[in-house]
Amino acid sequence: MLKARQLKKKYNNLEVLKGIDLEILEKEIVSIVGASGAGKSTLLHILGTLDKADSGEIEIKGTNVQLLNQKKLAAFRNEEIGFIFQFHNLLPEFTALENVCIPAFIKGDGNAQKKASKLLSTLGLSDRAEHKPSELSGGEQQRVSVARALINEPSIVFADEPSGNLDSQSAEELHKLFFDLRNELGQTFVIVTHNMELASMADRTLEIKDGVINRDQ
Ligand SMILES: Nc1ncnc2c1ncn2[C@@H]1O[C@H](COP(=O)(O)OP(=O)(O)OP(=O)(O)O)[C@@H](O)[C@H]1O
Ligand SMILES: [Mg+2]
Repeated sequence: MLKARQLKKKYNNLEVLKGIDLEILEKEIVSIVGASGAGKSTLLHILGTLDKADSGEIEIKGTNVQLLNQKKLAAFRNEEIGFIFQFHNLLPEFTALENVCIPAFIKGDGNAQKKASKLLSTLGLSDRAEHKPSELSGGEQQRVSVARALINEPSIVFADEPSGNLDSQSAEELHKLFFDLRNELGQTFVIVTHNMELASMADRTLEIKDGVINRDQ
């Protein structure tokens, strides 16, 4: 599904990633752990093509993403990649349903509304579809952002501390949801987390330390 080779990233004099090699298989759920400042978010953004490495290569579903121009990369990202952030980044002026629809509208999908409604219902949010984010609980907002990440049926979903802001019950429900989605829709998940329970549920855990990945634990 994803191969990365010798990814390096520096911010000024700070070498954050010093040569990351990794391979993620289809339908795998991989967790990424490491100390604060270790470079987890940096790596996730680079793998998800939101940011660029200084050097190294990334191949996603056989496509070498460095070779895509801006426009092709944006389309590739919108179709193949889903993101879930710690702070959900929902647009406050739009309803839950509209927020979920946005990536599908961008793609020009005529069935956006129907798909969004179905996803919201799967996530137990049917009766919240017309609510604005401010009218939803933190766990509900996070589930809306999960629906938004999934609407284009991405091959791979990157999540950066998706449950970091949730109480333990909502966190547990969200984690269970990732596994259900993998089983039902066959998606691949790469999840940065401080939550050791979530990390231990994953198929594999990778630790970033001193700018490289310590082999599987
Ligand atoms: N845009 C930037 N400019 C300069 N330095 C940055 C930038 N983004 C991140 N850094 C630095 O790079 C290092 C890695 O940051 P990153 O956000 O990847 O860490 P992290 O492992 O996700 O940490 P946390 O667990 O606290 O979220 C940190 O020392 C951070 O200060
Ligand atoms: Mg981070």
